[in-house]
Amino acid sequence: MLESADKYDKHLLRYYVKLYGDDPDDRRNAASTSAIIERIKHRFRDGSARAMDIGCGAGDLVRFMASIGIEAHGVDIVPHPHWFSTVSEAVLNEEARIERGTYHVGFFPQVVPSGEFDLIVDNGCFHHQHPSARAHYLDSIRQRLKPTGVFFVTIFDLDAKFESVSENHGDYAMMRDGRTAILGSPELIAPVLKRAGFMIESVSKVRRPNGDPFCLLTEATLQAAASGSL
Ligand SMILES: C[S@@+](CC[C@H](N)C(=O)[O-])C[C@H]1O[C@@H](n2cnc3c(N)ncnc32)[C@H](O)[C@@H]1O
Repeated sequence: MLESADKYDKHLLRYYVKLYGDDPDDRRNAASTSAIIERIKHRFRDGSARAMDIGCGAGDLVRFMASIGIEAHGVDIVPHPHWFSTVSEAVLNEEARIERGTYHVGFFPQVVPSGEFDLIVDNGCFHHQHPSARAHYLDSIRQRLKPTGVFFVTIFDLDAKFESVSENHGDYAMMRDGRTAILGSPELIAPVLKRAGFMIESVSKVRRPNGDPFCLLTEATLQAAASGSL
């Protein structure tokens, strides 16, 4: 049974504090991270952009974006030990901070860097939110995306085999570790994003290195006049 949104958020925080505490090198999203990097290289070749990665985890995408000149911001509920792993805070100067990106700790959308973004990435964060929080979450993304901006978001692929998923209720699945997720198809995610004011540019399958299905990567832009909720 799904608990209340407040209790659920506390569970989510405990879960990730433990995960990153036990294994800071956990990279279970490596396949989708690589797929997103390819899309970013394609769309933002010259690096002149502002980007936010919601639920940035270890910060791999933030560091990649910063390395090609993008002004990159990461938001996560857990300050990951890898954010500043190679240089101690004491010697971190302004230049190093720009190369590594800027990190913000807290729950999106309560915590959000100021300004608008050309690119907002959500690699595995949105779909773990409590279903009652999703509409406001997507609305906050829509409000922060520039009119010409793009939103990349991943959900689990319905065709993937996840032993960690115990039940799928369609618009949300329950995982054995108490998290919710979206285990879906293009037919499921497209209307969710459309109702939230986005236009779907593409939905593509991301596979694990052995070829097994893993997740769906959606690229979305803003509808001219957005309205509605989930
Ligand atoms: C499945 S992990 C993905 C991490 C990273 N994006 C990656 O691909 O490796 C989800 C991440 O979202 C963070 N998170 C969950 N809910 C969040 C929220 N509302 N705001 C910010 N971060 C959140 C978690 O701490 C975790 O790092």
